[in-house]
Amino acid sequence: MAPKSKSKKHKDKKRKNKQHKYTASNADIHELYQISVQSPEEDIEFLANVYQEIRGRKALHFREDFCGTLLLTAHWVKQGPKYTAEGFDIDENPLRWGFEHNLKPLGKAAERATIHAKDAREPSEKMPDVRCAQNFSYWVFKTRREMLDYFQKARADLAKGGIFVIDLYGGPECYEAMEEETDLDEGFTYVWDQDEYWPVTNEGKLYIHFRFPDGSEISRAFTYDWRMWGLRELRDILEDAGFSKVDCYWEGTDEDGESGNGIFTKEEQGENCLAYVAYLVAQK
Ligand SMILES: C[S@@+](CC[C@H](N)C(=O)[O-])C[C@H]1O[C@@H](n2cnc3c(N)ncnc32)[C@H](O)[C@@H]1O
Repeated sequence: MAPKSKSKKHKDKKRKNKQHKYTASNADIHELYQISVQSPEEDIEFLANVYQEIRGRKALHFREDFCGTLLLTAHWVKQGPKYTAEGFDIDENPLRWGFEHNLKPLGKAAERATIHAKDAREPSEKMPDVRCAQNFSYWVFKTRREMLDYFQKARADLAKGGIFVIDLYGGPECYEAMEEETDLDEGFTYVWDQDEYWPVTNEGKLYIHFRFPDGSEISRAFTYDWRMWGLRELRDILEDAGFSKVDCYWEGTDEDGESGNGIFTKEEQGENCLAYVAYLVAQK
């Protein structure tokens, strides 16, 4: 079967109402980041549904590791008065921005979110039903020992019946030095730059740039220094960390047969494609 390219850094963003208001001098990189790579409604729906499917009840307490601007945390607590969340990130800048732009506008509901300016390996205030690490952020852990330690801590910290969900991307394209430009209807171009990759260590240097219709650019708005982990090796490490069951959820394909459709279902083998995004769902 011919390989297919699926969406890589998060899913295709299609919005109406072209505005063309952004330039490098007036744009806010956190806003651009959220527009470019985050899909909070879809992510929360997936996380809530997968827990409901496995446990037959609703997850109420959520933890977002590497939370950055707390976007998922905010969407979780918005679900209703019983929903609480904790966000963990070592950088106070996105946390501060996220509090102002994502939590504060929620009013009283924001009180159900707790912000931790701490390492993702630190324990929760309350054990979560669902804990996630999104957009491959946990790839900052470069050795098997570090990754195992993180996964063991995540497992030990889950509530009874809790699940730990990580996303990942793979396929041969993720090891290629390349730049992928996506023109967004909001009026700017999101650039995913796989600048360097070293096969001996499986490490890479990756950047996000933003380009604007007036020709201006924010170069290296975000920098990632990651080890490119494979699906199977992550699954093995989750199992070694003591998770009782680890399932892969694989993205379906759009009608064009070329790109991902944002719908993830349980899958044993997957399909040979140039680039894919998948989830691993690990049960305590
Ligand atoms: C790619 S951003 C993720 C933002 C957002 N959560 C998302 O899903 O797109 C990665 C974040 O991880 C944070 N980070 C890096 N190492 C960390 C660690 N050891 N513990 C907690 N946060 C960390 C960075 O400060 C950064 O905000």
